[in-house]
Amino acid sequence: VVLGVDLGTSSVKVSAVDREGHIVAQQSFDYPLTQPHPGWSEQNPEDWVNGTTVAIVNLILKDGLKPAEIAGISYSGQMHGLVLLDDKNQVLRPAILWNDTRTTPQTKEISEKMSEKFVAITRNHALEGFTLPKILWVKENEPEIFKQAATFLLPKDYLRYRMTGKLAMDYSDAAGTVALDVVHKTWSKDVQEAFDLPASFFPELIESISFAGNISDSYATFSGLSTATKVFGGAADNAAGAIGAGLLQSNMVMSSIGTSGVVAKFENTADVDYRGDIHFFNHAIPNKFYSMGVTLAAGDANSWFKSVFGQNVPFGEWVSEAADSAEGANGLIFTPYISGERTPYPDADIRASFTGIDRTHTRSDFIRAVLEGIVFSFKDIMAIYDREGADFDTVVAIGGGAKSPLWLQIQADIFNKKVITLANEQGPGIGAAMLAATGLGWSDSVQDAAKDFISFGTTYEPNPVAVAKYKQIYTIYKKVYAATTEIS
Ligand code: XUL
Repeated sequence: VVLGVDLGTSSVKVSAVDREGHIVAQQSFDYPLTQPHPGWSEQNPEDWVNGTTVAIVNLILKDGLKPAEIAGISYSGQMHGLVLLDDKNQVLRPAILWNDTRTTPQTKEISEKMSEKFVAITRNHALEGFTLPKILWVKENEPEIFKQAATFLLPKDYLRYRMTGKLAMDYSDAAGTVALDVVHKTWSKDVQEAFDLPASFFPELIESISFAGNISDSYATFSGLSTATKVFGGAADNAAGAIGAGLLQSNMVMSSIGTSGVVAKFENTADVDYRGDIHFFNHAIPNKFYSMGVTLAAGDANSWFKSVFGQNVPFGEWVSEAADSAEGANGLIFTPYISGERTPYPDADIRASFTGIDRTHTRSDFIRAVLEGIVFSFKDIMAIYDREGADFDTVVAIGGGAKSPLWLQIQADIFNKKVITLANEQGPGIGAAMLAATGLGWSDSVQDAAKDFISFGTTYEPNPVAVAKYKQIYTIYKKVYAATTEIS
């Protein structure tokens, strides 16, 4: 078997997967997140190591997995988190996570200093969540700590270091630091010079399927794993998730409705230039890329609405109630900006709205408007693809939005694309396992691994009548953001 380690923000989940792509055992472990000041979000890297080790020990002791049977391990990691290390590779301060927003001044500093050149090199704007602003924050606010900093890693790279003794970062995660020249796959000299960061501060870069090392003697003693087990690079969670969703061809887009929402597209080359309007990162497949837009509150907008108006209704029933309404929720429109928005509006201050409320509206209209509003916000991301002439015909739906046939049909009708589900949705952990399987040579490529690991489920075709109706409503939806910026 191989182990896919999914190092998330609230927990780590380790899946043991056989050669056919079946999960034979799974263990997880939770760890805390600390918020010492408003907007800060930190974690202790030691918790990641301990949590992963407990999960692995439980796979061995509780599930009877034999260490000698574990041929390879790879990772999916929460992105962007800064782990600063001194010259003895000791952690200097708690990790600053992707959802920490203290770095607004540093993001401004970066765009003022490098402007368009920055986007041309890194293919992204410097947002609060990304790693470079976090590095500059420590440099400016904790100079005595920064003086001791010899290098830095991202969360799953630190975990890999502790399991193998090897310091490295894979390209898909390195792209999320916004210090990488994404097309040339090197650390950007321009960025290093502009912010006075020595080249030695930046770790060695590897592919997601690259062999990084064997389990070290010390980690074997600590965990019960064998030193014969090979460890491979791994990927950013969105890249691993995209692989686990079968996003391996340029005609495909993924729509993921979790707490937040992600629309991601496989990119065969870096020729397309979204000018930073959508994130553009290296993929976990060598020399491939993916682009991605984020709706900050997707499933969360539905959960919030249900928690206020339908506390005792089971989730499935709640979503089904939307069927009592009609396409377009009888004129009711919802924008899901309950926590601000990221794509296409990088606006932390905007807030959500219902417009067009009529005295005939019922709760089912409101539920339907919420489900549709979330999908319209995804359509806004897809509009960037349309603007650039990107061609795709299939949307793979995962997450909460893929659990309801009604919500899936709404997606097909609003996107005006074929929407397909996965037969066995397993998330980024299965993507991580595919990277280990490819690294071990079980498959010739990640695409090849997908033949064993991924099978698609049901297809939802757009209904032309609903498509026409939603097209008309979308022209109104698009106007709501600008109309509400001043008043929200
Ligand atoms: C992506 C992002 C999140 C994290 C979650 O830019 O910030 O999706 O990857 O781990």
